[in-house]
Amino acid sequence: MNIIALNGSPRKTWNTATLLSKALEGAASQGAETELIHLNDLNYKGCVSCFACKRKDGQHGKCAVKDDLAEVLEKLETVDAIIFGSPIYYMSITAGMTALLERFLFSHSIYNPEIATVYPRKIQAGFIYTMNATEKQVEQFGLKQSLNLHEIMIEKTIGKPVTSLYSYDTYQFSDYEKYESSMFSEEAKAKQKAEQFPLDCQRAFEMGVKLASDEI
Ligand SMILES: Cc1cc2nc3c(=O)[nH]c(=O)nc-3n(C[C@H](O)[C@H](O)[C@H](O)COP(=O)(O)O)c2cc1C
Repeated sequence: MNIIALNGSPRKTWNTATLLSKALEGAASQGAETELIHLNDLNYKGCVSCFACKRKDGQHGKCAVKDDLAEVLEKLETVDAIIFGSPIYYMSITAGMTALLERFLFSHSIYNPEIATVYPRKIQAGFIYTMNATEKQVEQFGLKQSLNLHEIMIEKTIGKPVTSLYSYDTYQFSDYEKYESSMFSEEAKAKQKAEQFPLDCQRAFEMGVKLASDEI
């Protein structure tokens, strides 16, 4: 069992990366081999619309762009589960995660109504989101409904359900005093970090356990 986690945050040790690491710890506790990839380390772009992945005479089902993402996309062909992780940037996932999804999803979908996906396996996935917004704000803005659209596309590609995990009201800076952040109460943020974030880490761990335990 091989599980890859993809960190869509440019920060390698903050909220998203921490939760992804916990999920991988959970997977490893069940004997899975795990790898955490920080997308921001890689030099790549989104889909360039070359349509090589749709050509009848070519490598259909494969992204033809040869940049740093090519190796990651190759690995995603053989993994047993994927855990996506992204902070919310302007009500969506980050540009790096969007670019990865364009390349991963589009290369596995062909314009044939009888073939839902050309992804070679049926695997599960998790999606971990971190955000400054509170749960109440997320409900107010209907954010989950729009994020769910990505999950539907992922499910169509990988053929199995995506489990999502939301971590709200995250701690953003190492020292709130140093940044203009008067709209937040540092005390409330610190409380969230001390009390809620560990629970989110536990939920991430359990996601990893579940992904590694379920039958493929
Ligand atoms: C460019 C940018 C845009 C952001 N936009 C939002 C947003 O629309 N909604 C939100 O709740 N948080 C927003 N945030 C806050 C991050 O989602 C939040 O701090 C997240 O937990 C950061 O993840 P990280 O600690 O893994 O980097 C934004 C942060 C940045 C840097």
